[in-house]
Amino acid sequence: MEQDRINELVDTINKASYAYHVLDSPMITDQEYDDYYNELLRLEQKFPLYKREDSPTNRVGGEAIDKFNKVIHQRPMLSFDDIFNEDEVIEFDERIRKVIPHPEYTIEPKMDGLSGSLIYEKGVFVRGATRGDGLVGEDITFNIKTIKTVPLRLTQDIDIEIRGEIYMSYASFEKANQERERNGEALFANPRNAAAGSVRQLDSKITAKRNLDFMAYFIPNPEEYGIKTQEETLRFLKDLGFVTNINLNQVASTTSEIVMYIDDLASKREKLPFAIDGVVIKVNSLLDEEKLGFTSRVPRWGIAYKFPAEEVLTTLIDIKFTVGRTGKITPNALFHPVHVAGSLVSKATLHNEDYCKQKDIRIGDTICIRKAGDVIPEVVGVKEERRTTTLVPFEMIQFCPMCGEELIKKEAHHYCVNEHCPARKIESLTHFVSRDAMYIEGFGERIVEDLYNMNYIKKVSDFYTLKKVKDELKELEGYGEKSIQNLLDGIEASKGNSLERLLFALGIRYIGKKTAKILAKKYKTMDNLLSTTYEELLSIDDIGEIMADSIMNFIQNSDNLTLIHELKGYGVEMVYKGIDTRNNIYIENKIFVLTGSLEKFSREDASKIIEENGGKTSSSVTGKTSVVVVGANPGSKYKKALELGIEIWTEDEFLEKVKSE
Ligand code: IVH
Repeated sequence: MEQDRINELVDTINKASYAYHVLDSPMITDQEYDDYYNELLRLEQKFPLYKREDSPTNRVGGEAIDKFNKVIHQRPMLSFDDIFNEDEVIEFDERIRKVIPHPEYTIEPKMDGLSGSLIYEKGVFVRGATRGDGLVGEDITFNIKTIKTVPLRLTQDIDIEIRGEIYMSYASFEKANQERERNGEALFANPRNAAAGSVRQLDSKITAKRNLDFMAYFIPNPEEYGIKTQEETLRFLKDLGFVTNINLNQVASTTSEIVMYIDDLASKREKLPFAIDGVVIKVNSLLDEEKLGFTSRVPRWGIAYKFPAEEVLTTLIDIKFTVGRTGKITPNALFHPVHVAGSLVSKATLHNEDYCKQKDIRIGDTICIRKAGDVIPEVVGVKEERRTTTLVPFEMIQFCPMCGEELIKKEAHHYCVNEHCPARKIESLTHFVSRDAMYIEGFGERIVEDLYNMNYIKKVSDFYTLKKVKDELKELEGYGEKSIQNLLDGIEASKGNSLERLLFALGIRYIGKKTAKILAKKYKTMDNLLSTTYEELLSIDDIGEIMADSIMNFIQNSDNLTLIHELKGYGVEMVYKGIDTRNNIYIENKIFVLTGSLEKFSREDASKIIEENGGKTSSSVTGKTSVVVVGANPGSKYKKALELGIEIWTEDEFLEKVKSE
């Protein structure tokens, strides 16, 4: 009786979900859906034995796993060779014609996500895997189950492997990034990265929230299902219950048709709800495909045409000059916001005067933007033919936009050499507290700028005197008591930083993070470094004349010595500690529970590391627990953590998170 009802509910919900997510035409209301779903959930909890493998309740994500198991693909998961222009399309066609005199092709959008393999047994989804190296992938079954456009049961009870693309629609991508922005997390650069990051989550509950999609395009052994062409493959996949690109693909028999298709798709690209990065051209007849066969690496019967990096036109509104910590002046293009390669951009660096002059870039111009390496926006060029009115040619500024000091040109760049320039000061102060430097949490550029303008901080040692004016700070608009206390706590904690952080934070010219670490390791204390010599510095591997000069200049400058003296007076430790014991954002202020038998470290060591990093350990899992670290054979604490949805780490993940660079 109950089993019948469970079966009925599973079938109804799966059908409704297919209608909603795949066909885009809902057949029941949200309320009805929720009612069915909740009824099913209740029945399954009461009668777990009747719970079906293809139950929609499996889509919310299951228990977190500690690593991905390997999956050996039954047939290698290959990809096509890439081509980039029309000539190469013609060459491809010529190669095909040598074997198949009158070929017919199917042409389809090339989805920009990552390929996945889905295994169905008797029509039920049983396993999902990434491509990996083509021979061995990773088992991502639980994550795949959360994808609404992956049918958990096919319309036919067959054993079959389906391949296709796991991707994130633009809409879900924007949503995911909005959430990340709210949480202060780094944004995904594009939908492909977002999809890849989401599908490789050890906790499928996270994947479930990301709203991934799947588009099916390939069956490795179509002949076994009586399929004769690629076109039929797509129809077959659609009939099985998958999203396909059937409404976007086309059959062609000449290269000019192919090129027309490419141009047409390129023009539609921006309006599609998902990212594509080219066109896949396949020989339509499977018999012909068989005749063409494979090279040692790739099929001969298909090719992937990749679009050139996406370029978008917009209008240059302004060129704004910024002053860096070293005084370097950078012109920046500010333009009407445009979507490029998956995200909204509104500014790009123009590097220097020469760059602007070479491009003859003028405010009001129509400019062409693309993303270098699909991540950083850049100005490709100017559409001069679109200039309708006279625009003023670019002129490099001669005076610092912040302090008015006359700029000096050194090689390609202009510099403000005024040591007291407020822009330089604010940049240096912001650098001092930044994540790779002293990492005083809560300080962004805006707060530093405010405190600078209000005369609270003029030099880096002033951070350590802020506690004296705590009461005044609390009264400032926009800063509550709690946020001020957090800042002050962060400042206090930074005193115990290992020496390399301070060396990097001081902004010594040419001394980056890596060199700071080398120096800290070698000299152990600031005092030792202050009494070094030019020769000794040069004798260190990785330190050349320019760096040695810069360090000597720094340590011989009396202002710098005073500053270091002051910092020391405020309690900044200035010794090398071997490991980065603080500011581990994964540990600080969090409550940990260790459970199961730990094999990679002892409980005592783990507790010590947690404490040193500003976290706490506790013996029981409650709503306040931040992370549960699980070893082998975990028991009830692990279960409780799952129930409460608490973050779970394996021993390896713990080590990864506490590891110093
Ligand atoms: S068919 C033998 N069709 O692009 C490979 N692939 O090299 C058969 N891709 O990594 C793949 N859209 O994951 C095919 N409509 C499409 C595709 C597509 C994207 C991916 C595929 C592979 C690469 C092609």
